[in-house]
Amino acid sequence: MEQDEYQKKIRAFYEPLLAAHGDETAAVGYPEAAGQRGRYVMLCEVGDLTKASVLDIGCGLGHLLDFLKESGFEGDYLGIDLQEDMVERARKRHPDARFEVMDFLADDVVIEEREFILASGVIQHCDRSLREKMIARMYEKCTVAAAFNAFSTWYGKHPDPRFNISDPLEVLDYCRAYTTRLLFRHEYVAHDFSVYMYRP
Ligand SMILES: C[S@@+](CC[C@H](N)C(=O)[O-])C[C@H]1O[C@@H](n2cnc3c(N)ncnc32)[C@H](O)[C@@H]1O
Repeated sequence: MEQDEYQKKIRAFYEPLLAAHGDETAAVGYPEAAGQRGRYVMLCEVGDLTKASVLDIGCGLGHLLDFLKESGFEGDYLGIDLQEDMVERARKRHPDARFEVMDFLADDVVIEEREFILASGVIQHCDRSLREKMIARMYEKCTVAAAFNAFSTWYGKHPDPRFNISDPLEVLDYCRAYTTRLLFRHEYVAHDFSVYMYRP
């Protein structure tokens, strides 16, 4: 899929949600906050983030930063999202933090290295080739670990056909070409799995 087509698809998905739900979790596709939070709990178990530099890809409204702050985060957070409206709202919600409009998958994107690179709720928008591009880039730009979640084929079809579902074994097979220091979680919330990829 071409990058501008991808961006158009993302905007078409979220613009009506943003208009209807403002700063609520439903605006980023979680009608129930618990679904979003369950994924954060899992993703943030990747390591000790307390004083780390963290890149949050597809940060949406910056809800992950709320969660990190509640958990005592004192590190260096950067949130990026390809949608201007999301970033504008995230900046209003957290005026003390850094949010940038950026498409992590764009060919000309310039990403600074961060200790931890996280992506929650992003990969389900990617087809296989974009998913692999995202995973490779996350791993290349992290210095400690990358962690992401995706929708799993092991739950069968997702009720929303707009989402891509990923075969966990295919994803792990791809990840292990980069590192065999991997953790895989498939036990927490329905439809989801998480992978942590550690640098040597
Ligand atoms: C399901 S929302 C999740 C938002 C946030 N991570 C959360 O947990 O609340 C997915 C977000 O990823 C963003 N996104 C998707 N692909 C992206 C990309 N290639 N680069 C930056 N942001 C992206 C979308 O614009 C959207 O805001």
